[in-house]
Amino acid sequence: MGARPVFADIDPGTLNLSVESLEEASRKEATIKAVIPVHFAGLPCDMNAINATAEKWGAAIIEDAAHAFGASYPDGGKVGNCVNSLMTVFSFHPVKAIAAGEGGLITTNDEATYKRLLRLRSHGINKGDDPMLNPGAAQEDGEPNLWYYEMQELGFNYRITDIQSALALSQFGKLDAFLERRKELALRYDAAFASMATLKPAQPVGRDRSAHHIYPVRIDFAKSGLTRTRLMHGLRERDIGTQVHYIPVYLQPYYRNLGYKPGACPTAEAYYREALSLPLYYSLANSDQDRVVSALNELLQ
Ligand SMILES: Cc1ncc(COP(=O)(O)O)c(C=O)c1O
Repeated sequence: MGARPVFADIDPGTLNLSVESLEEASRKEATIKAVIPVHFAGLPCDMNAINATAEKWGAAIIEDAAHAFGASYPDGGKVGNCVNSLMTVFSFHPVKAIAAGEGGLITTNDEATYKRLLRLRSHGINKGDDPMLNPGAAQEDGEPNLWYYEMQELGFNYRITDIQSALALSQFGKLDAFLERRKELALRYDAAFASMATLKPAQPVGRDRSAHHIYPVRIDFAKSGLTRTRLMHGLRERDIGTQVHYIPVYLQPYYRNLGYKPGACPTAEAYYREALSLPLYYSLANSDQDRVVSALNELLQ
């Protein structure tokens, strides 16, 4: 898009965008046109606070709710209501709460944005009652030219298929049950880890409103005498899959090649050094979850 991303740091308690860091970014940058907060792991950000800051610069807010389908804000509103943003984007990638194969969804309350998104997803071609840029070519002697359409700007082929949409729609009705079970599992982990010395839940807040897409923990590897590599391999030998969410984006080679440097977001980097995401999914049985807890206790003692 020709835009230059500025990375703001996270809050250590929620792992979401830190409003202080956002303010700081604005002191270094002449113009900020958009703010893209992520509802990390399914825990919604405080959008009132983010909006209050972004509003001062006239920046558009695009909420990344890839993890937060069905979650609620601190004020009780549902994620995606766009009360504090221009739009909210959701993901139906296979690991996400709703199965659709691939694809996603965008919500907005802004009609012009809605219509533009419809055009952009289909090669920039006008849709429905969009005004023609060249109305003279659209009709002849008062009759519409039935073949006529306009490509009004450069767009994409970002269309979700009907088959994927049907699958996603069939899953919507199950969402509450999915969320309820995920919350239950998160609370079971919280209770199991309450007395562990080297492992702590990384986001132990908002259990009643998070979508619990991920259950991240922080591990004091120095104190545990085990590296993350050894721990992940030890768990894998016990048929337990874990992952790290995420490597700070600007540490990826693409961004390093653009000049971004380590140290930009110290809180995110400190979290990354200690982070591990544990198995959490709707069909995870209590007995399997207990096995994860036992394996961690055994390996990290
Ligand atoms: C926080 C976050 N944002 C965006 C995405 C991208 O979603 P998609 O792959 O549906 O484009 C992901 C996917 O993993 C994600 O985790």
